[in-house]
Amino acid sequence: MARLVISSVVPTAAVVMMSVQGEADYLRRSMLAGAREFLVKPFSSDELTASIRQVSARERDKQSRIAAAPVAVGSAAASGPRSTESGEPGIIVAVFSPKGGVGRTTVAVNLAVAAASELGRKVVVMDGSFQFGDVGVLLNLNPKNKSIADLVPELEHGEPESIETFVINHSAGIRVLLAPPSPEMAELVTPTGVKRVIEALRRTHDLVIVDCTSSFNDTTLAILDAADIVLTMLSLEITSIKNMRLFLEVAEQLGYDDGKVKLVLNRADSTLGIRVADVEHSIGRRVDHTIVSDGRSVVYALNRGVPFFLSNREAQVSQDVLRLAGTLVGSREASSSDESARKPAAKKSLFAWRS
Ligand SMILES: Nc1ncnc2c1ncn2[C@@H]1O[C@H](COP(=O)(O)OP(=O)(O)OP(=O)(O)O)[C@@H](O)[C@H]1O
Ligand SMILES: [Mg+2]
Repeated sequence: MARLVISSVVPTAAVVMMSVQGEADYLRRSMLAGAREFLVKPFSSDELTASIRQVSARERDKQSRIAAAPVAVGSAAASGPRSTESGEPGIIVAVFSPKGGVGRTTVAVNLAVAAASELGRKVVVMDGSFQFGDVGVLLNLNPKNKSIADLVPELEHGEPESIETFVINHSAGIRVLLAPPSPEMAELVTPTGVKRVIEALRRTHDLVIVDCTSSFNDTTLAILDAADIVLTMLSLEITSIKNMRLFLEVAEQLGYDDGKVKLVLNRADSTLGIRVADVEHSIGRRVDHTIVSDGRSVVYALNRGVPFFLSNREAQVSQDVLRLAGTLVGSREASSSDESARKPAAKKSLFAWRS
């Protein structure tokens, strides 16, 4: 692909692909290789100039955001191991929901791409759904890739030294630690092991995003305990709201404050008969972020193995995800001025709650 050559010479170049081939697979490979826009021939000169202007404006916007970002790491975001730019450990973000199917994996992956590509952060996504992880599917990764299961022998003996060998550099600019390839291998991953992995990842990444399962099993509890921020997702469905209320009660008993638990309403759609204000009234808390419902962009991208943030950067759903990424990145500055808030050890552990 063109970018492979161009980007090595001019890393800041934005590539607009033009081709007579409009097939989905060609489009997918172009986007993953870094194309910013894709035009299928024939197209009018107006379409061409409009696309170039749009891409140029977007790139300028992106460069200014990276320049303004305090811990910018630029286009080297997905390259090999190194400490975080600031020397501080990265932020651990658990993407959780007490109900399945509300968009955790979708948001985790696109959030990572947004933070890496637009905010210049070094980001790793860990698939914490050890039985039926979907992260690899959304990113079109071969299931034969290495996964956390390959780390198991080391995990039981302290520090996982070769962790970098098992983290995949994805062409979308992020790094990925996959879940085991088959469900029966999930039980090999222990809570202690998973904590060690997360702690090791945070030493070399600005952002560690963990896609969790919705069940309160031991490994999920370990991830929530270790997280600096728990993005707790819900949808405008009565079952999701009910479970959220229960989860918030548990979180409160544990001493998880509002700074740690952030509520993200996904698929916010005014036609569903429940308003955001109704949700907030029901759970007794404000929703921190909303992400619009956009089945067209999201499912289209899912079925092609391309994050929608890459294939439909202009869509409202992408803007919403970018806004959320900006808040997470900004939370580092806020939290570093309040070091105690970064240390979950001072709080009660979820394990303590279970015993
Ligand atoms: N903002 C959105 N707009 C439209 N569709 C969405 C949105 N977010 C997620 N979806 C769709 O909802 C479905 C569930 O998403 P996803 O698999 O990310 O959820 P999950 O919480 O990870 O589910 P699971 O419990 O299976 O792990 C998918 O078909 C996805 O494409
Ligand atoms: Mg999922």
